[in-house]
Amino acid sequence: MKLNAAEIADMDSRRRAAFVNSLSGFKSANLVGTASSEGQTNLAIMSSTVHLGSHPPLLALVVRPGGDERHTLKNILDTGVYSLNHVNAEIVEQAHQTAARYPAQASEFDATGLTPLWQSGFAAPMVLEASVKLGMQLREHIELKINGTHLVIGEVVLAEVPSLAFRSDGSLDLEAAGSVALSGLDTYHQSAGSKRMAYAKPNMPPRQL
Ligand SMILES: Cc1cc2nc3c(=O)[nH]c(=O)nc-3n(C[C@H](O)[C@H](O)[C@H](O)COP(=O)(O)O)c2cc1C
Repeated sequence: MKLNAAEIADMDSRRRAAFVNSLSGFKSANLVGTASSEGQTNLAIMSSTVHLGSHPPLLALVVRPGGDERHTLKNILDTGVYSLNHVNAEIVEQAHQTAARYPAQASEFDATGLTPLWQSGFAAPMVLEASVKLGMQLREHIELKINGTHLVIGEVVLAEVPSLAFRSDGSLDLEAAGSVALSGLDTYHQSAGSKRMAYAKPNMPPRQL
C-alpha cells in the first residue's frame, strides 16, 4: 500500500494521528514527572524522548502545542526541572492512564496509584515503580514554528539505574531493566530478544558481540 501527501492529509484526523504516530518506528515510553511552583505533582506519559548528545548528556522531549492546559510543559518552564522514568511491564496500565486529561488540581500519581519519589534538592518527583529514573534540568525550550510543538531540551543531572542492567561498557541493558517500547499511541512492547553489534568500521565486516 502506498499513500501520498494528499491521501495522508485527507485521512480522518484520528486515523491520521494513529498512522503518523506509528511512522517513526519503535519509541521509548517515559513518564514525565513534574511539580507546579505550588508543589502540585503531575505525571504524563510521553513517547517523544530523543537523544541529543552525550557530553553534556542531553535529551529532548517534544510536547504538543497548547498553553497552560499542558501541565507538564507549564511545570517544566516554571520550575526548570522534570524527571523521566522508563515504563516497565508492571506499570503499563497506570502509565497509559496518565494520558487522560485530568484537571490541573488532580495529580496523576493519586489517580493511578504510582508513587512519587523525591530526591533531596530536586523539585520534580520521580516514579518509585520505574527502574530507570532520570532527573532532568531544563536547558533550552524552543516553540517550533512549523506546528507550534515545543522542543524541551534537558540535561541529565541525576540517573538511577539498576546495577544489574549497567553493562561494563557503560551501556544499559534495557531488557534487563524491564523497560518497554511504544509504537503509535497505544501499543506497548516487551523486547523479544536482541542482537548486539560491534562498532562499525569500513574495513571490517559486521560483527556480533
Ligand atoms: C502512548 C502515548 C504517548 C504520548 N506521547 C506524548 C508526547 O511525546 N508528547 C506530548 O506532548 N504528549 C504525549 N502524549 C499525550 C500526553 O500523555 C497527554 O496529553 C497528557 O494528558 C499530558 O498531560 P499534562 O497535560 O498533564 O501535561 C502521549 C500519550 C500517549 C497515550
